[in-house]
Amino acid sequence: MNPLMSDREIISTFKYVSRMKQEFMLSELRDYLKEEASLQQIHQILSPLLFDMGTDIITENDDYRIVRASPSRQMTLSEEEIKKNEKFFGSAAVSRKLERLIEQYIEKKTSKSWDDPQTLDKIRKAIRMQKASYWSEGSSRNISYEKGYSVLGYLAYQFPVYFIQFQYLLYEMAKDGLLKTRMKILDVGSGPGTIPLALVDMYNRLDDHKAEIYSVELFDENVEAYNFLVPQYAAIKSNITVKEPIRADVSKLDIKKLPDNIDLMVFSNVLNEIKDMSLEEKAGLVKSMAEKLSQDGNIVIIEPADKTNSTELRRLTIMLKKMGVRIYSPCTFLWSGECSLENCWSFGQKKDIKTTRLMETLAQCDEPYRYINTDIKYSYAILRKDKLAKHFIDMSAKSKFARLSQIEKHNKKRINVICSVMSGDLGDEKYKLFRVCDGTSKKAVYTVIPSHNLSEDNEVLTKAPYGSIIKIFNVLVKYNEANDSYNLLVGKGTIIESQYVDENETDDYN
Ligand SMILES: C[S@@+](CC[C@H](N)C(=O)[O-])C[C@H]1O[C@@H](n2cnc3c(N)ncnc32)[C@H](O)[C@@H]1O
Repeated sequence: MNPLMSDREIISTFKYVSRMKQEFMLSELRDYLKEEASLQQIHQILSPLLFDMGTDIITENDDYRIVRASPSRQMTLSEEEIKKNEKFFGSAAVSRKLERLIEQYIEKKTSKSWDDPQTLDKIRKAIRMQKASYWSEGSSRNISYEKGYSVLGYLAYQFPVYFIQFQYLLYEMAKDGLLKTRMKILDVGSGPGTIPLALVDMYNRLDDHKAEIYSVELFDENVEAYNFLVPQYAAIKSNITVKEPIRADVSKLDIKKLPDNIDLMVFSNVLNEIKDMSLEEKAGLVKSMAEKLSQDGNIVIIEPADKTNSTELRRLTIMLKKMGVRIYSPCTFLWSGECSLENCWSFGQKKDIKTTRLMETLAQCDEPYRYINTDIKYSYAILRKDKLAKHFIDMSAKSKFARLSQIEKHNKKRINVICSVMSGDLGDEKYKLFRVCDGTSKKAVYTVIPSHNLSEDNEVLTKAPYGSIIKIFNVLVKYNEANDSYNLLVGKGTIIESQYVDENETDDYN
């Protein structure tokens, strides 16, 4: 091809042909070009643009079939799709096919059987080291994936939980109508491909929706695992296209080079690992990346549920809110004014996942508990550029409720409160304890139901999904000096209402 022949000619010719024909082979384009160009050159130029031009590409022998796609619309789940997903979440597990792919990856990396005793010992060691660096604070917290075994340890221990927890979020987003039938997705800090693998798994239980997945990852060892696992797993669903990960430090990435019109941007367990960046700088990074988001796109940030990471995530999202990136969930701002709670520790919980065969085999040792990781607890935020929020409350109905920012004025008095449920049950057999928030609290507020007062009038709280809105009538306010927090003590005359308790919900806080 003449170097002077511009990409523009190829693009405009493609647009012309794709308007004329519903379906054609990419090689046919050469007949319309003024100058010679190889099929590979044409493919290279067009490949990043095809999705936005509303076409799908299917590899066929040495050529590519181009098919005009149906326009993207809001994804609405059919009864059948809901049934399949509820069944899956009833006993969520990594599929046998994916377990096997991970085992094969271990075999590829070690040239030994995945359950070779020496290999298992090395994976155990990698898990112990990774856990130690996870829980260390400050400069000693240096999580690296430079060594092959650290990725194998991650796949064995952290991966299964992160893989399932993202599917819970994705399912909730699908039910809320946040997903589209055709989506461009960017996964930042992909690791071995947890999010793309979770997407493929979930799409397997959905109708024929299209997705194109991009990712950014820092370490070669992770990219290698990604390149082994993701394309093979995605092959089960031809409607998902996976792009080769961009090997880069996201903090130094030229954002202009990322694709435009991203529908879903995911930061799963990554922002807390980015070194040498303050929280303000991380917020600046997310804000600048949001420029690549489509107008109705979503950003999902997930972090571990421990106090440090969880409270940092809340601070980050409040910073982003001030910068104009809005929070869809789980926080609901029921009143005007800014959230000023310095340490908001809030996370969702779901039912334990099933162990994988690899986890069980690793646990066949003196300290089995060190290698079993099945509980799902995570902090997350869904952010958007528009004003859409998960819950909207009619202002006129709010007058009979007290704002939690004013709670100190009501100490030892009975009040009515409208708020979101911001935790699972944090209590014990003597009382049930739930964090609640209305977006104005200056101090943490908990609703406490002593077990002898648990009744039909208030048990709805124990079933209310994380982030959902409840109304509490006639509840006693008590300042808790030891914790510098407030308790809303549920008594015999207290009534709790929830509009959001759904018997089919898969939320499980126990
Ligand atoms: C805990 S893993 C999470 C992987 C995956 N997102 C998940 O949820 O399982 C964190 C990932 O972020 C990557 N990462 C850390 N700092 C990064 C940076 N500055 N740029 C790109 N990736 C980074 C790490 O290499 C690692 O793969």
